[in-house]
Amino acid sequence: MTTTSEPSSAVERRPIPLSVPCLDGREMEYVRECLETNWISSAGPFVTKFEAELAARIGVPHAVATSSGTAALHLALLAADVQRNDEVIVPTLTFIATANAVRYVGAWPVFVDAESKHWQIDVELVRRFLEEHCEMRDGRLVNCRTWRRVRAILPVHLLGHPADLEPLLELARRFSLTVIEDCAESLGAEYHSRPTGSWGIAGCFSFNGNKTFSTGGGGMLVTRDESLALRARHLSTQAKSGTDEYIHDDVGFNYRMPNILAAIGCAQLERFEILLDSKRQIAAHYRRALAGVPGLTFPIEALDVRSSNWLSTVRIDAAAFGSSSRQLREILRQASVESRPLWQPMHLSPAHRGAPHLLSGVAEQLYEDCLSLPSSADLADSSLRYVVDTIRGAAREDSRDGRSPPAQLRGAA
Ligand SMILES: Cc1ncc(COP(=O)(O)O)c(C=O)c1O
Repeated sequence: MTTTSEPSSAVERRPIPLSVPCLDGREMEYVRECLETNWISSAGPFVTKFEAELAARIGVPHAVATSSGTAALHLALLAADVQRNDEVIVPTLTFIATANAVRYVGAWPVFVDAESKHWQIDVELVRRFLEEHCEMRDGRLVNCRTWRRVRAILPVHLLGHPADLEPLLELARRFSLTVIEDCAESLGAEYHSRPTGSWGIAGCFSFNGNKTFSTGGGGMLVTRDESLALRARHLSTQAKSGTDEYIHDDVGFNYRMPNILAAIGCAQLERFEILLDSKRQIAAHYRRALAGVPGLTFPIEALDVRSSNWLSTVRIDAAAFGSSSRQLREILRQASVESRPLWQPMHLSPAHRGAPHLLSGVAEQLYEDCLSLPSSADLADSSLRYVVDTIRGAAREDSRDGRSPPAQLRGAA
């Protein structure tokens, strides 16, 4: 959030994007250094520096920079030895990359619904699945419906708010499951005063263009487990075993991050607290400014967590607000403000239809009700006010000043 004040007419003409990178640190200087030294490819001093700095931030000894967050997830699943036809517990409310990575290794996602307070994976449903739908057979936990081995839990810290990790880790211990954290949206988030990414066997971050910290495209796998890190690094470099000859001991991948992108990442990390603080302020502003508008709510931040506030997302009760989330999206679009619904829940996605699932209906309702609002770290105050004013202007007339609609109107579609 920046305090530059722009005339409101200029703001109205310029589109306000959902989430774009904020590159006003030393990005240009570091990229120039790559060009001048010819270190632009998938090795170089910035890759090493970026890995060391991110590992230090998360508080783990190992980090492997990758070409994307999806690649980091794929490598984590491979290095954790998740096998073909294993099952992996995944929230149904997530970006599709989480579920795709599971399919890349030939395993199957088991989709679990969200809880309604913080919108994260519902730990009680996970417990129910493990206790009521699985049993131990020959020392392996199997899903009694599919007879496949249940091998891992892949929680996602959705929108930057940590999933409830302690009970999940407790279940994982009880049922001998591996936990890999999808931290694509949660760099900067903490659960019980420890960064997300430091709790599971591995954590996977994304530096895609829409993330708070962006390299244009890229990811990072972090872990305490040295052998997992070595395996992931090896697989990410085409499993090349010869030092100066092309000898490969496995089918690997070209998943390394180029030095030129790591250079951008190093510059982004120098502004870690500034960018996070901007996100915090934007989220706080939306909550404050829209608090009195009937029909609008935000997810509750859990006790003892710090969200990264990646995308501020509002839930719209169409009856109370007077417009549905999609109608509000159209109103915002006409005002040149970009907003976006949450992801279609994975159990509804044609790409993953037929996968096992445990549902309560929360994710489908959130998909229908929610809109993510402009949240770029350098969003100008005047743009933020304009978005808020546009939303308030869309509210039903009788509720704009914060009053509830008359009782007989509530529930009207
Ligand atoms: C939850 C989640 N997982 C995985 C990814 C994949 O990251 P990438 O786009 O860097 O491959 C993303 C975002 O892009 C994401 O939001």
